Amino acid sequence: MNDTKSKDRTMLNWDDPLKPEAAKPTQPPAPPSEAVPAFGVADSLAPPVTPLGAKPVRVEDKRVVNGMTDINQLAPFKYPWAWNYFLNANKNHWTPLDINMAQDVHDYHHKLTIEERHVYENVLAYLTTADILAMRNVAIAVMEKMSAPELQIYQARQAYEEALHTWTYQHCIETIGLDQGEIYNRYRVVPEIYAKIRMTQERLDAVCSTEIDLHDREQLHTFLMSYIFFAAVFEGSWFYNGFSPIFALQRRGLMKGTAEQLQYIMRDEVMHASFGIRVAKQLMQEEGIRPDPKALREMWDQAEACEATYAGYILRDSILGYSADLHLEQFRFVANRRAAQLGMEDEPFPGAEEALPWLAEQANLRKEKNFFETRVTEYQTGGALNWD
Ligand SMILES: [Fe+2]
Ligand SMILES: [Fe+2]
Repeated sequence: MNDTKSKDRTMLNWDDPLKPEAAKPTQPPAPPSEAVPAFGVADSLAPPVTPLGAKPVRVEDKRVVNGMTDINQLAPFKYPWAWNYFLNANKNHWTPLDINMAQDVHDYHHKLTIEERHVYENVLAYLTTADILAMRNVAIAVMEKMSAPELQIYQARQAYEEALHTWTYQHCIETIGLDQGEIYNRYRVVPEIYAKIRMTQERLDAVCSTEIDLHDREQLHTFLMSYIFFAAVFEGSWFYNGFSPIFALQRRGLMKGTAEQLQYIMRDEVMHASFGIRVAKQLMQEEGIRPDPKALREMWDQAEACEATYAGYILRDSILGYSADLHLEQFRFVANRRAAQLGMEDEPFPGAEEALPWLAEQANLRKEKNFFETRVTEYQTGGALNWD
């Protein structure tokens, strides 16, 4: 007991925080410095300048992009819903270390067929690169262009969550004992995985510049299309659908630890897609801009082709209860829902059917209804989830 306490009192090493430092004898505090006043005005006796003439922030001057007011002042809120996303995101706390993976190690090495291992590995190979792209998109390409702090604050949390997801995949890869270098490199040597990554990179690169002028209608449209792709396709459809092969294994009692990790991630991703779609709609309304139908059609067609290629590879041999056809049809079904959420009149894939009717229950959605009603502490414990 005493040992624990003394460990807790170990001083933080300020130069190397991961290396505990022995406590040093207490020294008397240094006398206050007289020479340097705050804010570096030592060389000037002029009174401090008030920012922006100290005009109050007006809600009507706030915008998703091209805002005309102080980005450093949170309230008054123009988008209180964005702040609520941030508050709710903080209820889903976990780390991959909280979930027991012991049975997964056994399942992978002794129960999965070769085909099932192929699915499992390639799902991880795609996801691990995809989540790094997601983090970079939010943190580098998107966040700096938002001009209301309540939007940026949720996105700061989102960027952290994408990093956490990458840790989760790494934890699975490491725990199962997969060849890390080979798995991480796979998206670069397997064209069927690379197709989705490439489409994402291209659309990210198109807006990943501080030079982009969002007052220019053409560039604004490029940004809008990139944002819609990210929210509705990349997060809203590909991620949503991308976990389902693992949930198919989970339904049969296999790889349940990995599936539980993905259930936590799914909660985040459902929020990300929903937030992104809301931002895109707000942007369209404020800027009076709509996606060009041809560009939109092209996006859906390309996304479908990439997904078909990917599904054909990871499921070149079907596994019990899951096939490439089911995977692709479910993508089309989810894509239709995302288009409807965005307020698009036409379904991109008319008549697509819900090919995996068990997915919502297996993954998240039924719990999602209760998600925000559940006590915060339940999520902070990081224990096993009970979906029932
Ligand atoms: Fe993610
Ligand atoms: Fe995400």
